[in-house]
Amino acid sequence: MDKTQLVEMALEARKKSYSPYSKFSVGAALLAKDGRVYTGCNIENASFSVTNCAERTAFFKAISDGNKEFEAIAIVGGECEKTPDKICAPCGVCRQVMMEFCDYDNFDIILGSTSGVIKTVKLKDILPLGFGPDSL
Ligand code: THU
Repeated sequence: MDKTQLVEMALEARKKSYSPYSKFSVGAALLAKDGRVYTGCNIENASFSVTNCAERTAFFKAISDGNKEFEAIAIVGGECEKTPDKICAPCGVCRQVMMEFCDYDNFDIILGSTSGVIKTVKLKDILPLGFGPDSL
C-alpha cells in the first residue's frame, strides 16, 4: 500500500460523507501496521457539535475492530460537489486522538487531493509538545 493508493482510498471514502450543514466533505484512510486499511468520512448532525470528523471515524472503526497499531493516514477534504485541490489538515481534536494511538515521531499524515499526495507530515510537526499516554 503506497501513499498514492491510500489517498485514492480516502477520496473514495469522502464520497460517503454526511455533511449537509457545512457542505464540506472529508475522507480518510488509516493504514494499520498489519496492512489493513480503515476508511472514514465526516458525519454531521443537526446538533452541530455531535459531528464526527473523517479521521476519527477511521480511528474508531479500527480501535473497535481490535486494531491499535498504525502506520499512516491519508486525508482529503473540500467543498462538497467539488474536487478537493488543496490540503485539509486534521483538526485539533483528531490530532489528539492520533496522539493517543500513534507514534509521535514516525506516524505519517498524508495530505492529499485529487492529484495525489500533496504533503506528508509527522504528528510531532503538527502537534508540538503533545500530551499523550506517556505524559501521565
Ligand atoms: N472535518 C473533518 O472531517 N476533518 C478535518 O480534519 C477537518 C474538518 C469536517 C468536520 C465538519 O463536518 C466539516 O469538516 C467542516 O468543519
